[in-house]
Amino acid sequence: MVHRLITSCCTRVLSSQTRVLCSRSFSSPLYPLQPKHVDPNHDALYEESLNNPERFWGDLAKHRLRWSKEFDTVMDCDMHKGKISWFLGGKLNVSDNCIDRHVEVTPDRTALIWEKDEPNQHQRVSYRELKEMTCQIANTFKQYGIVKGDRVAVYMPVSPLLVATMLACARIGAVHSVVFAGFSAEALKSRILDASCKVVVTADQGVRGGKVIELKRTVDTAVVDCDCVENVFVMSRTGASVPWKDGRDVKLEEAMEQQSTECPAEVLDSEDPLFMLYTSGSTGKPKGLLHTQAGYILYAGLTHQLVFDYHHGDVFACVSDIGWINGHSSVVYGPLSNGATTTLFESVPTYPDPGRYWEMVERLKIKQFYTAPTAIRLLLKCGDHYVHKYNRDTLTTLGCVGEPLNTGAWEWYHNVVGGGRCTVVDTWWQTETGGIMITPRPSSGHTRSKPGFPMTPFLGVEPVLYNDQNELLEGNNVSGRLCIKKPTPGMARTIYGDHERFLDTYYRPYPGVYFTGDGALRDKDGHYKITGRVDDVINTKGHRLGTAELESVMDEDPRVAEAAVVGYGHEDYGEAIYAYVILKDEVRDNEELIIKDLKAAITKHIGSFAVPHCFMITPGLPKTRSGKIMRRILRKVAENKPEELGDVSTLADPPIVSTIVEKHQQKYGTK
Ligand code: WT7
Repeated sequence: MVHRLITSCCTRVLSSQTRVLCSRSFSSPLYPLQPKHVDPNHDALYEESLNNPERFWGDLAKHRLRWSKEFDTVMDCDMHKGKISWFLGGKLNVSDNCIDRHVEVTPDRTALIWEKDEPNQHQRVSYRELKEMTCQIANTFKQYGIVKGDRVAVYMPVSPLLVATMLACARIGAVHSVVFAGFSAEALKSRILDASCKVVVTADQGVRGGKVIELKRTVDTAVVDCDCVENVFVMSRTGASVPWKDGRDVKLEEAMEQQSTECPAEVLDSEDPLFMLYTSGSTGKPKGLLHTQAGYILYAGLTHQLVFDYHHGDVFACVSDIGWINGHSSVVYGPLSNGATTTLFESVPTYPDPGRYWEMVERLKIKQFYTAPTAIRLLLKCGDHYVHKYNRDTLTTLGCVGEPLNTGAWEWYHNVVGGGRCTVVDTWWQTETGGIMITPRPSSGHTRSKPGFPMTPFLGVEPVLYNDQNELLEGNNVSGRLCIKKPTPGMARTIYGDHERFLDTYYRPYPGVYFTGDGALRDKDGHYKITGRVDDVINTKGHRLGTAELESVMDEDPRVAEAAVVGYGHEDYGEAIYAYVILKDEVRDNEELIIKDLKAAITKHIGSFAVPHCFMITPGLPKTRSGKIMRRILRKVAENKPEELGDVSTLADPPIVSTIVEKHQQKYGTK
């Protein structure tokens, strides 16, 4: 009886809610969003999304996306086997969903606002213009022989042409692999080779914070040994003259001019690949997470609309670089699938001064603003006057993602930036999840959240916690390893070229669930807080790095016998990186010189953002008798907490700990 009551209540909730969530009115000028999508029955809807995922997601997919052919099967997933597939038999095109269906209704609506690096300069691109650019690039790609399934490496500044390049790939079924323009030539090369990219799209130069970045030159170095690369397309950002290889290099804008502004969108399967994006894991080799079409675009759009309470006419700004998943889902695909106006931020938060974001908020009348905790912490140190100087009355929602947002930073964001009026959404998700998974949801009426807490699972998401003994932790007031029990449409399908690694990393550690690599606690009220990575991944200054990636670069130096890298809590960066290096016995070089060389090697192989903040040359490392490095101890030393080292007597060489503590204190002081 109770069961029946709940079911019928949920059915009612779902049918009234999906009308709101689905925005059926495709052909009306209001499309695709209703004026307000508050759903006071969020809890019932959430239950329904877990109890009846096929109906829940099927209904949303049917009504929120434009299909060439509707799907026959909503989902075919087996978490035990790491098999995730959605909307089978369906055919659609993501660029059609992100551009054409909006052009048909509101061609002149602004799709993109490009906030250029140069202060006080922005450019608007309408949906019609975005479609034209996209089609011209798609036709250029076709002319150069790029076909469905080919991989396209993208190494470009944040710009409308970057967005159009991604959408052009989507239009013809090519798979883009955007590489953050701060990665070095070596890092770019390994990503190009891993995916056998046929072409690279880049720019003459980039500019960030007034500094020039030599993108084309870096690509030239990267592709020297990449036989797979047939062409390099070069957008003009600064107009500087750069080295040219005739026959291989193509001026992007000139090639586009020759092309028609119409290009039919390829009809693709729901599960055809859309893009791959590299991220760091526990080994030295970055992994290319692969996302597919329908499930990804549905999830990116739904989370963008509901988490940020986005309404037509709002100017949305996610200031992340497009080279990260946040740039893919929250700058490009989520907003565009909703017909939104999205801001492309090319600069850095402190250029020309720490008021940059807030001046931009005033000038562009931004309503929802999304950034990373590291930027918030940096700006709060610069003083409130940079915020107060500008009018921020348009702001309603302030989001952050990437690392835990400490209470002080949360309060500053809420009270100073938001003037106490705005909803702060601390959103938890990953490259692997494609979209936001744990988050306060303003549109559900949950406007109050606890500082530092991403709070509640999004619709369809069921977080579960396990302890070290692999036991499921039930009830509240528990902390453990965060896993996700139910498949969601936006989850990555595989690691490009290495499905075994995908299964080993995400689906085999806790059979039947997806393992996130994070620790979390569920407090007495059932709210979630992320406690940090439980694997060898570091989140520093908004970047994700594997300790093994750094260690393998240092191990290549002939003078280094062994290196161990740990992340440790840092006031500004979230986590900072500490490198402990053991030299070979015969090495007599000056320590400072070696550290300088190691820094240069890391800059060369990965990028300057990955250079550790502290280095120690040490005669040994704390290891167990079986040879495992005790990173916990290295972390405590880095954090200046020798009193918390615990019992070290079972180590293979206990005295090494005091040697390391002394060395650290000599070099970096006690606090
Ligand atoms: C890792 C994923 C999704 C865009 C940026 C990061 C950490 C993410 C939070 C948060 C605490 C967070 C986790 C996660 N993380 N959001 N709100 N609170 N930690 O994507 O580079 O794939 O990194 O970032 O450790 O696993 P990513």
